Amino acid sequence: MNTPDTQPEDCVMCHCSGTKRNNIQNLFNQGMDMAAISRWTGALSGCGGCEWDIAAFLKELDEQRNEAQ
Ligand code: FES
Repeated sequence: MNTPDTQPEDCVMCHCSGTKRNNIQNLFNQGMDMAAISRWTGALSGCGGCEWDIAAFLKELDEQRNEAQ
């Protein structure tokens, strides 16, 4: 099983919207939460199959941010 840690930056995390991992990371860095990222990109607005992966990725980014502070 792939975890977000092993995936390339340009891999598509939401296939319904074509939203890439680095796009989600950029929006997170601009202060967007999952709902805002969904509205902005269309991620999570299709089948919903990406929800767990994106939630785990955002949690990971949040933890990295907290560790850096
Ligand atoms: S893969 Fe993201 S909504 Fe379907």
